[in-house]
Amino acid sequence: MPVKTIYEPFRIKSVEPIRGTTRAERESMLREAHYNLFLLKADDVLIDLLTDSGTGAMSTHQWAGIMEGDESYAGSRSFQNFKSSIQDIFGFKHVMPTHQGRAAERILFQTMCKAGDIVPNNTHFDTTRANVEFTGAEALDLQIPEGKIPDNRYPFKGNMDVAALEALIQKVGKEKIPLAMLTVTNNSGGGQPVSMENTRAVSTICRKHGIPFYIDACRFAENAYFIKLREAGYADKTPKEIAQEMFSLADGCTMSAKKDGMANIGGFLCTNDDRLAQRESDLLILTEGYPTYGGLAGRDLEAVAIGVQEALDIDYLKYRISSTAYLGNKISEHGVPIVQPPGGHAIYIDAKAFLPHVPVEQFPGVALAAELYLEGGIRAVEIGSLMFAAAAKMELVRLAIPRRVYTQSHIDYVVEVILDVWERREQIKGLKLTYEAPFLRHFTAKLEPV
Ligand code: F0G
Repeated sequence: MPVKTIYEPFRIKSVEPIRGTTRAERESMLREAHYNLFLLKADDVLIDLLTDSGTGAMSTHQWAGIMEGDESYAGSRSFQNFKSSIQDIFGFKHVMPTHQGRAAERILFQTMCKAGDIVPNNTHFDTTRANVEFTGAEALDLQIPEGKIPDNRYPFKGNMDVAALEALIQKVGKEKIPLAMLTVTNNSGGGQPVSMENTRAVSTICRKHGIPFYIDACRFAENAYFIKLREAGYADKTPKEIAQEMFSLADGCTMSAKKDGMANIGGFLCTNDDRLAQRESDLLILTEGYPTYGGLAGRDLEAVAIGVQEALDIDYLKYRISSTAYLGNKISEHGVPIVQPPGGHAIYIDAKAFLPHVPVEQFPGVALAAELYLEGGIRAVEIGSLMFAAAAKMELVRLAIPRRVYTQSHIDYVVEVILDVWERREQIKGLKLTYEAPFLRHFTAKLEPV
């Protein structure tokens, strides 16, 4: 029998209550938070879709691993478990634990980049960009043109424009490019996957010119599953085999284990380069910790060692990707404009098309996110003009789905709330800023209705 219902491939052993609130309560809490959902208390949120990072639920195996954590300062058994699990999938020679993804980025770029260099990526995530720029290098996004059009349904919108990469190398010379990166899946570009063909093409160009090629691996398992579903020749391969092939094309990776590591904290940096590894490990000791724990507790290493393997489980990935697509397809069937096709970890609503009467200067994304909270206690995040100011390419509202946390009925509730807001979209008003910090203003900005 072909099964149509999406079911969670797990049962629930421990529950965490979430609290409903009245509309009047939410009105006053929203005012107190100055219409910025970052300033809400998490207890006042019913369904929290702010991020899929560090917000997942761990399995019974992970919790058991936590009890087995070896907290020795040096040479712990948990590090051996961590290293062998990561090498089994990622295949790199050196594995350095870090407290989260951006710590791996900082160490990588401080070791490899200098002022005047250029680092190409399909799309840099904001911490990745900031860490490249902090060294004085330029972070250059070379996403394919299809990836920038919200309703374009190209299956691998995360791909890099390889002709643009080749042209860049010809123009500035390989000496100015200390490394090239691919972010899988492409978070800032809508959670869209990168194909194996594109990964191979980028790898081939980099190898031809002797440029190291790294992968920002945060959502590697979701990317592997999209390759299985959409790319010719991969239907019969397991997500693990696909991930292994993907990483065999690279020289190293950075990873936030708060995503497809299925852990609440953690990350790592990998490389095949012995000399680089030595310098990176020296920096690791300076700020993260001894190389066999790198800013994590032994128990965290165990949680990640088990989590990266669980993220590749076929039943889990099927549920994960279908559940996100279900949310995207349900709202888009009713006309809600979203980035198509639905991504792996999140649905991105096109707030500019949702609220065409709210000008960009009045932050349509923030206004829509505030309305979703008011209507149903849902917390999403604006990725648009408040976050990126003049550099914003789109006005999006991201609904990021924590891993293994919410059930299908929670997703149905989210659909219901979004469709209610869609029905009365014409009444939604824009916002104006009353306070902004000099940088990363979206975290602390204060706003009020115009
Ligand atoms: N790279 C990508 C593609 C990311 O999405 C993130 C984090 C990082 C690197 C940094 O990892 O948070 O562990 O330091 N993204 C989160 C998000 C914060 O909400 O998308 P980190």
